[in-house]
Amino acid sequence: MDIVIAGAHGAIARLLTPRLVADGHRVRGIIRNPDHGPDLQRDGAEAVICDLEAADGTAVGAAVAGADAIVFAAGAGPGSGAERKWTVDQGAAKKLIDAAAELGIRRYVMVSSIGADAPPPGDEVFSVYLQAKAAADADLVAAGLDHTIIRPVHLTDDNGAGTVEVGTSVERGEVSRDDVAAVIATVIGDARTHGHTFELTGGDRPIAEVPEVIGNLPRDGA
Ligand SMILES: NC(=O)c1ccc[n+]([C@@H]2O[C@H](COP(=O)([O-])OP(=O)(O)OC[C@H]3O[C@@H](n4cnc5c(N)ncnc54)[C@H](OP(=O)(O)O)[C@@H]3O)[C@@H](O)[C@H]2O)c1
Repeated sequence: MDIVIAGAHGAIARLLTPRLVADGHRVRGIIRNPDHGPDLQRDGAEAVICDLEAADGTAVGAAVAGADAIVFAAGAGPGSGAERKWTVDQGAAKKLIDAAAELGIRRYVMVSSIGADAPPPGDEVFSVYLQAKAAADADLVAAGLDHTIIRPVHLTDDNGAGTVEVGTSVERGEVSRDDVAAVIATVIGDARTHGHTFELTGGDRPIAEVPEVIGNLPRDGA
């Protein structure tokens, strides 16, 4: 597949790209800082410079044209204020959803977050973050693409275990970014996960079993 990753210099994306390349995919990574390009090239990806907050629909379309799939792994990050939760976590995701719908890119994998199913009200930054994640997830479901929405619990930089737990609702805990990347690489080409939203935490289940487990859950809207 020809896969575009948004937030390609982020921690999950840097772990995901080599996995996708090893699986034989072409990977194009959207970054906003050209200085990050050489890192992407070392990972095996082609860098596409596009600031997803500033870009209009034409520029976003140009960044993803020809792709078979989009992975949204961008985020405003923990140091950002509420405004950038809306412009990145929701706004950038929505621009890519619109581009995918316009260009016939059917596959879209969203890195969402635990808690996005029931975001707390109010304007505290973490609440706004979850509100923005929930809105982006709803935008993606409404678009009618072949989506998979992954809602990890607290992320760590530990080495991947190769095992996780998934479900419509999981215990809060931790999961490594490496295992999140492995889950994305496993589900991206697996149609059993189309139309599904699931939570992801550390656990004992081999990641290869994730598509079968998810495929047996009710699809979104069912
Ligand atoms: N932390 C947690 O415990 C947790 C739990 C569940 C879910 N998540 C979600 O998982 C996501 C991915 O995690 P991560 O650790 O890989 O994140 P990360 O390292 O912060 O990566 C996010 C990437 O998004 C990019 N980005 C920000 N604004 C952009 C823009 N306008 N245009 C293009 N790219 C832009 C950043 O690029 P720059 O370097 O240019 O800023 C960065 O490379 C998070 O963003 C969060 O939503 C996190």
